[in-house]
Amino acid sequence: MKVLVTYYSLTGNTEKLARSIYEAIHVEKELRPIQEVKSVEGYDVIFVGFPVHAHSVPAKALPFFKNLPEGQNIALFCTHGSLRGGRLPKQALEHAIGIAARAKILGTFGVRGKVDVTLIEALIKQAEHRAWAEEAQGACGHPNESDLADGKTFAREILAKIGR
Ligand SMILES: Cc1cc2nc3c(=O)[nH]c(=O)nc-3n(C[C@H](O)[C@H](O)[C@H](O)COP(=O)(O)O)c2cc1C
Repeated sequence: MKVLVTYYSLTGNTEKLARSIYEAIHVEKELRPIQEVKSVEGYDVIFVGFPVHAHSVPAKALPFFKNLPEGQNIALFCTHGSLRGGRLPKQALEHAIGIAARAKILGTFGVRGKVDVTLIEALIKQAEHRAWAEEAQGACGHPNESDLADGKTFAREILAKIGR
């Protein structure tokens, strides 16, 4: 049984969540940024994490999702500025599922992650982005201890699904 936890992270939130998920796994395991994964051969499960960008998967993470082999077990996790459990992060996870079309999705998980202040300041001035930017201000302080603990629970639930 071998597990890979991989992530794309610009400002560290998704990396934090990835590390928490990784800590909850007690079989052979590896933790790597997505850019450093050369091959996905030999992993029974891959946890793949990304920050939501423009309500979807960041362009730099797309090739990884597209190149997953047929039937590969994966579990998706993300961090996002908008409210947890809301429509927007759900939509981003659905996009990821669509892109990783050949993989077998074991589950998805998302928590809030503090949003870069300069991004909020820029978007709040634009009428079409204002509502989102105001909502995203509430992500300050996330992911917090409780979010990271939920990430561990997610990891355990995924492994239980494949009998570990
Ligand atoms: C360029 C950019 C676009 C973003 N777009 C969204 C978005 O559409 N929806 C959202 O909820 N959060 C958005 N965010 C916020 C990030 O998803 C959030 O802060 C995340 O936790 C960052 O993760 P990271 O630190 O691993 O990069 C955006 C952030 C950046 C930098």
